[in-house]
Amino acid sequence: MIVCDGSNGAGKSTLIKSIEGYLKSKKQKVLVTREPGGTPIGEGIRHILLNPDTPEMCDTTELMLFAAARAQHIQEKILPNIQDGRIVICDRFDSATVSFQHYARGLPLSLINQLNEIALDGFRPDITIILDLDPLIGLERVKLRGEGLDRLEKQDMEFLNRARDGYLKQAENDPEHFAIIDASQPIKKVESDVFDILDKLLMS
Ligand SMILES: Nc1ncnc2c1ncn2[C@@H]1O[C@H](COP(=O)(O)OP(=O)(O)OP(=O)(O)O)[C@@H](O)[C@H]1O
Ligand SMILES: [Mg+2]
Repeated sequence: MIVCDGSNGAGKSTLIKSIEGYLKSKKQKVLVTREPGGTPIGEGIRHILLNPDTPEMCDTTELMLFAAARAQHIQEKILPNIQDGRIVICDRFDSATVSFQHYARGLPLSLINQLNEIALDGFRPDITIILDLDPLIGLERVKLRGEGLDRLEKQDMEFLNRARDGYLKQAENDPEHFAIIDASQPIKKVESDVFDILDKLLMS
């Protein structure tokens, strides 16, 4: 499984469409999915998590809802599709929980790891591609896209910067499973950097 993660507006959805096309051109069977969400239950949880009208959500409630959506996603969708021979491409995954709930919110890493372990049931992605971008630029991109901001996009800049640093730390700590891509580059350059990574992955 390939995960695309990083700051809001970094270009995850844009990149995932390119990856999907690239892998299909290589005759691979592909499934695109996202977190929180990916299943009817998960999409219901997503609606609760991202609702901008509920700023009162507790940090631990948030953490457990993400984990619950992930557990359902793994069992109902990710594992069966991998079993069927598809490469799964996922928009955000466990790396997002480590960044946002640990590095940005300050919940203990041991607690997050424990919940991720329960949700993942022994599974882990082959590669997590981190699109690294100043969150300020990311928010500008989201605003230009013309949609409102969700509950997590409405957090202050310090919070979003801690999450960004969290992604970089995760990648530095585990270079075998993470790749950092400079998302301030033109889309074509971001794509070609990522396609190089995919070529290596397909060969292994
Ligand atoms: N490398 C890039 N340079 C400039 N603009 C970009 C780049 N990549 C994506 N964009 C544009 O930025 C906006 C946000 O991109 P996209 O929706 O792919 O980001 P995202 O990470 O999926 O956002 P979100 O976190 O809200 O899901 C889009 O309008 C997209 O066209
Ligand atoms: Mg997106």
